[in-house]
Amino acid sequence: MVNLTINNKKISVPEGYTIFEAAKENNILIPHFCYMEGVHQIGSCRICVVEVEGAKTLQASCVTQVREGMVVRTNSERVRRARKVLYELMLSDHPKDCLSCSRNQSCEFQKLGELIQIEEFRFEGEKSKTSIDDSSPAIVRDNSKCILCRRCVTVCNDIQGVGILNAQLRGFETMIAPAEEMLLGSSACSYCGQCTVVCPVGALKEKDSTQAVWDALLDPNKVVVVQTAPAIRAALGEEFGYEPGTLVTGKMVTALKEMGFDYVFDTNFAADLTIMEEGTEFLERVKSFFYSQNLMLPEFLKKVRIHLEDKDPTLPMITSCSPGWIKFIEHHYPDLLGHLSSCKSPHMMLGALCKTYFAQKIGLDPKNMFVVSVMPCTAKKFEVTRPEMTNDGYPNVDAVLTTRELARMIKDAGVDFRNLPDGQFDSPLGLSSGAADIFGTTGGVMEAALRTVYEIVTGRELPMEGLHVKPIMGLEKIKTAELKIEDAKDEWAFLNGFTIKVAVTSGLSGAAQLMEEIKRGTSPYHFIEVMGCPGGCISGGGQPRPVSNEIRQKRMEAIYKEDEGKTLRKSHENPFIQKLYEEYLGKPLGHKSHELLHTCYTKRSKY
Ligand code: FES
Repeated sequence: MVNLTINNKKISVPEGYTIFEAAKENNILIPHFCYMEGVHQIGSCRICVVEVEGAKTLQASCVTQVREGMVVRTNSERVRRARKVLYELMLSDHPKDCLSCSRNQSCEFQKLGELIQIEEFRFEGEKSKTSIDDSSPAIVRDNSKCILCRRCVTVCNDIQGVGILNAQLRGFETMIAPAEEMLLGSSACSYCGQCTVVCPVGALKEKDSTQAVWDALLDPNKVVVVQTAPAIRAALGEEFGYEPGTLVTGKMVTALKEMGFDYVFDTNFAADLTIMEEGTEFLERVKSFFYSQNLMLPEFLKKVRIHLEDKDPTLPMITSCSPGWIKFIEHHYPDLLGHLSSCKSPHMMLGALCKTYFAQKIGLDPKNMFVVSVMPCTAKKFEVTRPEMTNDGYPNVDAVLTTRELARMIKDAGVDFRNLPDGQFDSPLGLSSGAADIFGTTGGVMEAALRTVYEIVTGRELPMEGLHVKPIMGLEKIKTAELKIEDAKDEWAFLNGFTIKVAVTSGLSGAAQLMEEIKRGTSPYHFIEVMGCPGGCISGGGQPRPVSNEIRQKRMEAIYKEDEGKTLRKSHENPFIQKLYEEYLGKPLGHKSHELLHTCYTKRSKY
């Protein structure tokens, strides 16, 4: 422990603490700006300066470590004056158009100005050039609002490992952008949107789709269908003052109906469908792998030799639900695309079904249907523009709203969210199992898939407490588990004694680690789940700000609570999924499924 004095208070904290952490732990709050716990600590703004006895200059408390006997003052006249001038200098190079800024009332820079009582603009001088980059379908970068805190640079480089955003040029020309004056839309940006979550001002944000959705809602010739992803219900409430982790599923459904959506469906339904398709695809690949490796070549496999010869034996198979991850692998590991499951992501599957199966059911020409997906993700805005995400010439999904955009629309529509009664999703694309709920958190897709795959192979329930695969739950970057197959059904007897090895990662730097193993030929896994954002969809790039591990944990617990509260907890037991196969799709991986629910990928370059 280190003993020191802050503002005449004697304290002692563990060695290695910064002055900022020591103060915080002892209820002394130091105004700060660029610092973000667990994300960014490089001391770029200097707002957190303090006076340290014996030091010539003021010290940035978020990067200065405590020392034995240190005497610190956080609020002296010198500190207060310096903090104010630092703020005013940043303000002098800011457009100050708060009333028309998307971050009005939720801007950290605005809040800081209020905290340190700025009442006039003392400094006016040269300004950085205004340049708005809206070349990408997902993210807009407005350089004029950027205060160069570099949080986005840390997230893009150190946490996600994508390395697109960096400081370019110098002086008043400095801007945070891709190298070589490249636009986001032509760069290898994954569009994960983690930069938009940490940006304290309006410099990085999702591309707005609210007007397109209002236009559809107000068009009397359009039937407007909306679907909501599993992670929305665990975070939307935060925009209306609820504690993180409060489930608002019923209120969300009612709000969407009050806004004028004709049908409110649940992306969870398609998450169950994804498990049926992806689980079957995994088992097919395992079968083909056994055949291609000449492993145990059982009687059963000899019989289906011809059937297996043209099947893909590529393992490990990797999940394909996360569009940020897909764009990342297309740019950085194009030679490994064969490892991706061919399944479309759940909301694209649901969109395809809305415009075919459901449109036929209600006798509607799909050209008059407009499908909106409410997603925790900015990359979904790019995904819906991919040319392969169409059927019969119609896009599967017409517009994507992030959780933040939906909250803005609910407020704009004058809906009193907190006082709404609980509503129910519409049928038949609204019923889902608990396995679908957990798609919203890291490890959830893998657990949902194992619940179904294990039961298909053995005829028994997954032998885990509460159906949870504990080693792959939680927020660690890479998690692994093993599942031994014993007493398999006759058809799967060749798998007896086989141990399925799985890995789960969230965040793109973890994904890169696992891809390097595959490239080297040392990957021991058969099945890998990758989510592009740390923690999975619960903290996707379109979710409410701020996000910390504590908030991630609460959202994750809410998702597991939703799963555990259901009687139906396995995708293959969803009666509406069974009916969909009976009535329309035939069987998993059948002809119709391939047409509507599966896709292909594009090799892209890094530059
Ligand atoms: Fe410490 Fe920015 S908050 S330098």
